[in-house]
Amino acid sequence: MSVWAVLAAAGSGERLGADRPKAFARLGDEPLLAESLRRLDASDWVEFIVVAAPPGWEEPVILLAEELGCSKVSAAVVGGETRGESVARALAEVPEDAAVVLVHDAARPLLEDDVIERVLTALNEGWDGAVPGLPVADTVKRVEGDRVVETLRRDELRAVQTPQAFVASVLREAYSAGDVRAATDCSSLVEARGGRVKVVEGDPRLIKITDGADLERVAALL
Ligand code: C5P
Repeated sequence: MSVWAVLAAAGSGERLGADRPKAFARLGDEPLLAESLRRLDASDWVEFIVVAAPPGWEEPVILLAEELGCSKVSAAVVGGETRGESVARALAEVPEDAAVVLVHDAARPLLEDDVIERVLTALNEGWDGAVPGLPVADTVKRVEGDRVVETLRRDELRAVQTPQAFVASVLREAYSAGDVRAATDCSSLVEARGGRVKVVEGDPRLIKITDGADLERVAALL
């Protein structure tokens, strides 16, 4: 099974308030991107990696990969305006004969190999895709303006993370037909085309870095 990883790292990270894109914000002594890049490269499950880089940062991404000895990085492409567009551009670099695409957000640096194993195992069971998910602690309500219109059943909800794994042909088809700009994850595009996606156990350490407090929280877990 040839597994290509797509690492979405093209976000601007405005909410971090740094003078550089989020992927190059400092996490400990390194750019944030280094952690997920190194972990993907070290995974026996992953054969090749394509990185969606912030515009103008393709070269620094390649240099960082070389510095870290990440030999699986095959390309750094310029990201788009939204996550969906960045993933689409990276996907265009994945060869036709790839069997599986694993899409991960660089904003979730603490990637463990066992999560990768869980999502890939689901594909071996015959699913079109698999996503890690965690139970939701808060009660979630749907609103229109200030008005609550619905309270969702908490036991039916999962907070979904990355890495998300897909049969490559299914993901390509979903990206070519779907509303890529608006998609906040890959699974939603596959679901919209009728794809069967399994939710597997997520990992609480896969915290998504949005602001400075998240960076500090993750740095403490390194
Ligand atoms: O912005 P947000 O935190 O939701 O982004 C999730 C992931 O998608 C991050 O790893 C970010 O770098 C990536 N992204 C991207 N291209 C964009 C926006 C976000 O690759 N235009």
